[in-house]
Formats: sequence, structure tokens, C-alpha cells
Amino acid sequence: ETVDWNVEDTGKSGYDHYMLKEIHEQPRALRQCLSGRVDERRGEVTLSELEGLETPSAVHLVACGTSYHAALYGVQLFHSLGIPAQAFLASEYATGVPPLGDSLVVGITQSGETADTLSALREARARGARTLAVTNVVGSTAARECDYALYIRAGPEIGVAATKTFSSQLVSLNLLVEYLAGDQRSSEERRAVLQTLRDLPGRVQQVLDESMAEEVAAEYLGADGYFFIGRGLNYPVALEGALKFKEITYEHAEGFAAGELKHGTLALVTENTPVFAVVTGEDAPAKKTLGNVREVESRGAPVIAVTDDDQIERYADASLRVPSGSARVAPVLVNVQLQLVAYWVANALGRSIDKPRNLAKSVTVE
Ligand code: G6P
Repeated sequence: ETVDWNVEDTGKSGYDHYMLKEIHEQPRALRQCLSGRVDERRGEVTLSELEGLETPSAVHLVACGTSYHAALYGVQLFHSLGIPAQAFLASEYATGVPPLGDSLVVGITQSGETADTLSALREARARGARTLAVTNVVGSTAARECDYALYIRAGPEIGVAATKTFSSQLVSLNLLVEYLAGDQRSSEERRAVLQTLRDLPGRVQQVLDESMAEEVAAEYLGADGYFFIGRGLNYPVALEGALKFKEITYEHAEGFAAGELKHGTLALVTENTPVFAVVTGEDAPAKKTLGNVREVESRGAPVIAVTDDDQIERYADASLRVPSGSARVAPVLVNVQLQLVAYWVANALGRSIDKPRNLAKSVTVE
């Protein structure tokens, strides 16, 4: 008896697609990212490649696509330190560089080769800014051209749609912010954050093991469109959930800050537009998002809650659960569920998951 195989299939380690393999590689990728960099008992972060980088007075984050969503998340982490930060689409930044002051300019780019991001970083450098690349590829153009490079260590990503590298970007931004925090954090606070990061790969594994995303995907196939909403740290993953969904399913999807949907797009919400609502934590933002959930429900839209709340049945038609805990890393867990939903919808529709039409892994034109 012979077995059909080719080199590509072996590379997939038994998964039908690289994307699914890479989604499942996330616990390992995150462990690699943290390895040797975190001492949670002493509350210390070591990033040897950043030696000499001082705490900036302000930060600009520039990026494209999925990496831009990581930038939006990074902004909120810098704000938690009291450091003003802004995220820019790299193509817009290069077109009209905003006043730099003393800002550190951080380019987030998986490949390190995206033309728009390189161009934004070059503009910033030409104006005298210090630059830092957060990248997956050692020796990439961004890594070579920037003053500093922080490696996310996700390992090679073959699927065009970014998955494990997004999670690794989010964790790397956490490390960067804690590294730069200096005296802004008590060692107790730092220890708590680092313990949360240390526990994260195990929690991602739990999401992978228990996910109901395949069932949810089957239930909501064939809708007119899909909306994704989230607030605060969950806003960037609402955008990323929609982007992943568009990229590989070719269905229409849009992500919104939860509070914004009602300012226009609510006109499109019907009983045939499922809304994925990201609601984690117990505090005020989650309560407000629940208010937004009721707004879409009263227009008849099915709501799929992506949540750590076990009382969820009260307000959602379906739920995708994540372990409860730190609000800061919840977006990583939520995103795994949204990656899986996009994957299973695309798979059911027979799409070209690893190489979606019209898209490239790395775009080297502006
Ligand atoms: C391309 C890819 C996207 C990616 C973007 C930025 O458009 O298709 O998945 O997010 O480039 O890539 P980078 O390598 O700079 O993170």
C-alpha cells in the first residue's frame, strides 16, 4: 500500500491547511516569544536586543493590515503607562508625517518587508526619529534599517492570512511596554502582568481544545454580511476578526468599535447579519458593549458572544468561550476563536485558505 504525500503536505503536519496548523502552533509560538525574556518571580523583563533604548516621551506605531491592529492594541498599553501613543496606517503616515517631537517610531511588520511600513519608517528616520522594528524576520529590511529590532519569534508563517504572528505581536508589545515601564510599575504590578503572560500559552491551548467555532461557523453560513464589535482592548481584535473573515471567506465583514456601529452601519443590521460581540471582563466597558448587543438584537440580528462570561445565555444566541482572567490578554484568546470561525467558514465554502485570491503574504509596492 502506498500513501500519497508531497513535501507541502508533510509541512502541514497532518492539518489540511497551513493556516489551521499555524493557529494550533500559537501556544508554542508564544512560549518561544517569552522564552528567556521573562522572570515573573523577580518581575523583570530582559530584551537584550533593546539595550540602550530609553523610555520614550511619546510613541508612534506604524503598520499595515493585521499588524496595524496590533498597533492599535499597543497604543492602549502605552497609555496604561502614561506614555502618549498613536497608531497610524503606514501608507498614510508616509504621505504626511505628523509632528514627531521626541517620539519613538515603532514599525510593526511580520515580514519586515512591507513597502508602506518601510517607507513610513524611512520618513521618520529622515526627520531624526529613533526607530524600532517589531518583526518576525531576523535580518529583514525593517530590522536592518531601524535603530532597534524586537523579534516576535513566532517561527515561519506560510499562510497568507496572519494568525500566530498577530498573537506574537500582541505579546511582544506587552514585553516592550513592561521593559520600558521602568519605575512606572511597582514590582508587584509587573510580577502580576508577567505571570499573566506566562500563563497565556496554556490558556490559548485551552481555547484550541474546547472551541465550538466549527459549530458556530456551520450555523451562520450564508448570511448577508458579518459584523464584529468590541470596545477598548477588544476593539483591535474586532477589526482583526473582520479582516481575517474577509481575507479567507470572501464574504463581507466589518469590524467596529462597539459604540460606533449605531452611528450609521446599524442601518445594515438585519436578521441575516450575524454580529460577533466581544465582551470580556466585568467592568464598565463590558456593560456598555452589552448595551450595544441589545441594540443589534432588537433589530433581529443573531448575536454570537465571544466572552468569558458564563451567564452569557441571557443575551446571546450563541457563544464562543474564553477563560476568564486578565483583560490585558483576553484579546489574544478572543482572537483565537475569531481565527477559527473564519477558518471554518472558509473551509465550508471551499475557499483557497492558504493563498486567498488577490492577496500576497508580503506586499512590496506602495
Ligand atoms: C499583507 C498581508 C497581510 C499583512 C500585511 C502587513 O497585506 O496580506 O496579512 O497583515 O501585509 O504585513 P507585515 O509583514 O508588514 O506585517
